[in-house]
Amino acid sequence: MSDTPMLTRRPEWTALEDHRAGPMLHPQLRELFATDPERAERYTVRVGDLHIDYSKHLVTDETLALLQELATATGVFGLRDAMFRGEKINVTEDRAVLHTALRAPRDAVVEVDGENVVPKVHAVLDKMAAFSEQVRSGKWTGHTGRRIKNVVNIGIGGSDLGPAMAYDALRAFTDRDLTVRFVSNVDGADLHEAVRDLDPAETLFIVASKTFTTIETITNATSARSWLLAGLDGESAAVAKHFVALSTNAEKVADFGIDTANMFEFWDWVGGRYSFDSAIGLSLMIAIGPERFREMLDGFHLVDEHFRTAPAEANAPLLLGLLGVWYGDFFDAQSHAVLPYSHYLSKFTAYLQQLDMESNGKSVDRQGRPVEWQTGPVVWGTPGTNGQHAYYQLLHQGTKTIPADLIGFVNPVAELGGELAAQHDLLMANLFAQGQALAFGKTADEVRAEGVPEELVPHRTFRGNRPTTTILARELTPSVLGQLIALYEHKVFVQGAIWNIDSFDQWGVELGKVLAKRVEPALTEGADVPGLDSSTSALVATYRTLRKK
Ligand code: F6P
Repeated sequence: MSDTPMLTRRPEWTALEDHRAGPMLHPQLRELFATDPERAERYTVRVGDLHIDYSKHLVTDETLALLQELATATGVFGLRDAMFRGEKINVTEDRAVLHTALRAPRDAVVEVDGENVVPKVHAVLDKMAAFSEQVRSGKWTGHTGRRIKNVVNIGIGGSDLGPAMAYDALRAFTDRDLTVRFVSNVDGADLHEAVRDLDPAETLFIVASKTFTTIETITNATSARSWLLAGLDGESAAVAKHFVALSTNAEKVADFGIDTANMFEFWDWVGGRYSFDSAIGLSLMIAIGPERFREMLDGFHLVDEHFRTAPAEANAPLLLGLLGVWYGDFFDAQSHAVLPYSHYLSKFTAYLQQLDMESNGKSVDRQGRPVEWQTGPVVWGTPGTNGQHAYYQLLHQGTKTIPADLIGFVNPVAELGGELAAQHDLLMANLFAQGQALAFGKTADEVRAEGVPEELVPHRTFRGNRPTTTILARELTPSVLGQLIALYEHKVFVQGAIWNIDSFDQWGVELGKVLAKRVEPALTEGADVPGLDSSTSALVATYRTLRKK
């Protein structure tokens, strides 16, 4: 591997640079559409329930061909197949990367170190299903015999963002009699607000942590246990009925005091940010029921199969990944906006931030050499139409190139009726209008033709050529959510493969954790922290002076 050429020295890379400096120096979407009436149809790919239109991108057939050549040269397909086969493609942690096995059908065979892992995946899913049914039906009761009405997931990062996002996304499919909350922040306010109106006798805590050593989660879980025991006359036997764990670390779960019979297992070949379709999804499964959860897994699997088998020119995650490389590395785009036109997807972009930025926020390649190219973008965004009244001004007329994904659903969720359902057309009209305005803008002549005074013409002109992908689906269902997430997971994979970085480690989060542990005694006890810089030491001193005792 050490003779792997640097990405920017590959002829396929140079060919893209020449293409950008030549025919694509000033690409004009108006022109590209005018000269090809079939463009929208040709640049649309359909995968399962997803209709993905990438025609409003600054690309031609030649661009796409050159990007495909880059994908081939950088070994994207070989790495993809190695991932699906269970090879240890997470090189810095020497681990397989097998979130795809979490949604493989019962009869599939996926081997890690010679062992087929699919039976144990399904054994855990079955155990989760049985437990979820017990909670949903009221058979699982709390210590005092009362029915569980509240479920609180305690976890952070991949042990929080996925289930929290999916719970919101699938609200319409949840048991509305259950209160489901998510606590992640070590700020005590998070747990306080989550439990302040709950009855401990009716509350189940799900402690979700792959490692079961994450300080935020263990701290919150410890406080939750104190809250529970304070409300149940200190009876420590109550823990068994009110705490379950989701983890790979049985020893630490037992140390915490949770019976490992109440532990739902997953494995080190499931990355934290790729884990919410593992046991980490238990809170979601309780909320939507095992059947809906399985529909979601089927949605994931459908896109896995598409990614694994579809021809390159019609392979949606590959195309989206290549487009991201095109903008990040050849247009100097620093960020990527994800703009769902669905209130239910309010946390979708936050979820993708971890998926994308923790995976591809790297600056050395798989051989440890500093990269000389741009890697992962800043991912950001909030649901439309709210963003339109906040930051879309910059998208339309700012100086930056910001590719965006517009995600929308043809139908509102079935629960909405009457006037609220009718509002859906207005919501979607906004999505379509934004894509149109960003791509085609409004020329100075068009502005003049409206009688706008000459001095205002530059201010009211929209240069257009701002790229978007539009993703539509009939409805936001569990399966569609699974399809969408798998689409992004594999897009991130493609980009990491091209950039030749390890998308599956996250060493960059470690330093802050270590330093926080070192600084904490200075805050709590005024301890001297050797080697503290003058800025941090002055900040700590100010903190201690102002902190109420
Ligand atoms: O932020 C680092 C990280 O390791 C994430 O990758 C992970 O999702 C999160 O912390 C939580 O980790 P755990 O599930 O082990 O508590």
